[in-house]
Amino acid sequence: MSEAFRTMAWEGDALLLLDQRVLPMVESMRRCPDPSSVADAIRTMVVRGAPAIGVSAAFGLALAVRCAWKKGRPWRRAFEEAATELAGTRPTAVNLFWAIDRMRREAATLPDDPAAAFSRLEERAVALFEEDVAANRAMGAHGAKLLPARGSVLTHCNAGALATAGYGTALGVIRSAAAAGKRIHVYVDETRPFLQGARLTAWELMKDGIPCTLITDNMAASLFAAGRIDAAVVGADRVAANGDVANKIGTYGVAVLCKAHKVPFYVAAPVSTIDLKLPTGKRIPIEERDPSEVTHLMGKRVAPHGVHVYNPAFDVTPVRFVSAIVTEKGVLSPPIAGALRKLFR
Ligand code: MRU
Repeated sequence: MSEAFRTMAWEGDALLLLDQRVLPMVESMRRCPDPSSVADAIRTMVVRGAPAIGVSAAFGLALAVRCAWKKGRPWRRAFEEAATELAGTRPTAVNLFWAIDRMRREAATLPDDPAAAFSRLEERAVALFEEDVAANRAMGAHGAKLLPARGSVLTHCNAGALATAGYGTALGVIRSAAAAGKRIHVYVDETRPFLQGARLTAWELMKDGIPCTLITDNMAASLFAAGRIDAAVVGADRVAANGDVANKIGTYGVAVLCKAHKVPFYVAAPVSTIDLKLPTGKRIPIEERDPSEVTHLMGKRVAPHGVHVYNPAFDVTPVRFVSAIVTEKGVLSPPIAGALRKLFR
């Protein structure tokens, strides 16, 4: 089973991105011909989701070299300027910095000839795209085994094809389970304030014909209390060395509900989301976004003028709430810190 749309497409001289701000009402591709337009697309959420912004940034760096080549400028300086601009777009998802680092390592091996450098960096970005899809499919195969043959799964935010190069992490697990014949019903958290669940996850699942029910975030607890949730599966923006997980704001609440109701809480994340440099989740930088995301709904003000707003985009779920982390290399079970160490050994 595969998604019926493309989150991004490489055209050789530009990156096309499905504009996720206007889904599900409008399906339109935004053309990004240079690194600044890719950075702008990441900052403004045209493209979002940890692996998707990492892969987009990789194409942005290839474009930096292409633009320098076309203007007759030395490419290395243009590459570094673009890397700085792209790294400044969003702070939480480590995949962004991981992808920039991969491209930088490749760039260090390249000749001064800009055409040759562009060609190699383009190849590298395409490889990162393909590796991400392959990782998601592998995660799907591993994670599908954790889900019941028949039951209801809750997901939060969008960790689907839209959040990746394709197939998805948490939704990849659900897609694989459905493809394997499991009868999974998905409860989709709306995910205030940006509505990734309502606008994106529900759209993806419905396109695939996977049965789903949309709820507002505050309805999840009553479903747990009624025994109607068998598992939760979410994605991640950064996993610390001890297994603490940063993901979309509200994820921690889902994990607490799982613990309280003895329901497994699974995180699906590729190895590129794991940040061994941070010992615990306390050090993960949490992005705070514009107050208007909270005071307005679809462009219409719903809160008084001048009200104080707190709008963190992510929260951190302590590892003790995590039943397992599904990676492309297999399922990491508690003690997760040890499993992570072993994975990278
Ligand atoms: O702010 P967003 O929409 O970029 O946040 C996305 C999430 O939190 C996802 O759950 C996470 O990136 C995993 S995507 C495979």
